[in-house]
Amino acid sequence: MKTVRVSCSRNYDILIGNGLIDRVGEIVLERFPQKRFCIVSDSNVAALYLDRTAASFPQTPESVVFQPGEANKTIDTVRFILELLAEKHFTRSDMLIALGGGITGDITGFAASVYLRGIEFIQVPTTLLAAVDSSVGGKTGVNLGGLKNQVGSFWQPSLVISDPEAFSSLPAREFSSGMAEVVKYAAICDPELGDKLLHEYDVSDIVCRCVSIKRDIVASDERDAGVRQILNLGHTFGHAIEKVSGNSYTHGEAVAIGTVMAFRAGEKLGFCKSGDTSKAVSLLERFGLPTSCGLDRRLMLDAMQNDKKRSGGEITLVIPEKFGRCKLYRTTIDALGEIMSGL
Ligand SMILES: NC(=O)c1ccc[n+]([C@@H]2O[C@H](COP(=O)([O-])OP(=O)(O)OC[C@H]3O[C@@H](n4cnc5c(N)ncnc54)[C@H](O)[C@@H]3O)[C@@H](O)[C@H]2O)c1
Ligand SMILES: [Zn+2]
Repeated sequence: MKTVRVSCSRNYDILIGNGLIDRVGEIVLERFPQKRFCIVSDSNVAALYLDRTAASFPQTPESVVFQPGEANKTIDTVRFILELLAEKHFTRSDMLIALGGGITGDITGFAASVYLRGIEFIQVPTTLLAAVDSSVGGKTGVNLGGLKNQVGSFWQPSLVISDPEAFSSLPAREFSSGMAEVVKYAAICDPELGDKLLHEYDVSDIVCRCVSIKRDIVASDERDAGVRQILNLGHTFGHAIEKVSGNSYTHGEAVAIGTVMAFRAGEKLGFCKSGDTSKAVSLLERFGLPTSCGLDRRLMLDAMQNDKKRSGGEITLVIPEKFGRCKLYRTTIDALGEIMSGL
């Protein structure tokens, strides 16, 4: 088992190891004895892992199951969880456990951050995407009226338990989606990680490397006011793709296409070269990810107008300077329209 320690407003460990899902209860009770727990899962993950996870506790924890999918990442689902906690008399010293992908983690973290003004929670990511990205760093939230992550909080977990064996049941498309975030880390700051992906690799090592990168970035800018925004490579375009396509692309697929658009924008602005873009494209294609889409650029631009990262009439893009180094680039919506034409 590997351990990555995160130091920020809350210090916590990320544990990574095969088989950990059957040891959640043992690990959690060792660190948080005498608490009550409620496991939150979507119905796909619940069917596969809820009983196993629950069986690792000497006393069966409470559980709540919601319908999978981005359309259910809503305040209504959060309310459903909160009502169950109230009904079961959960107190401030009790904990939630997010067992699932990024949607489960984001919803559960948000519910934890507002129940009784904040209770602790644990992330048990079961998708590659959640393991390498969303389970770490404390961004929680839900969508509102078609706006992605419009409501949320910064609320760090108290522990993250990642079991890469759980990824074996992921549909291939979901595993690939996680790889889009892995390629993102490589493109932002770790070209050697990109090289590693070209050969045989151990998934635990990849998870460890990605969360270590995220840990370091989050530690220097927990509330996303500066350098943390670099982690949004591909996301401004990606969120627009998710929105305009009506979520027909997964988050990771949209990020893959968005990453390539960011590289092409970098070329257009004279910051990076076509060879950098090709490197990103070939890595993403290696994992079966899409690298372009025919969505209407004007609709995408409209969707970006609402991007919450837009402030003072400007929008902050993450633009590659080369494969392995990116910069924040502030631009106006008008200039962005110009940049996007022909991308
Ligand atoms: N908070 C953050 O910092 C952050 C970062 C990146 C992404 N996100 C969010 O994460 C979400 C995407 O996460 P995701 O891709 O994990 O989506 P997800 O939670 O919807 O999981 C993807 C699908 O896989 C299923 N699934 C999960 N684990 C499984 C397993 N082990 N075996 C079989 N099926 C399994 C789920 O039921 C779902 O259908 C988006 O809403 C995105 O906004 C948040
Ligand atoms: Zn993402």
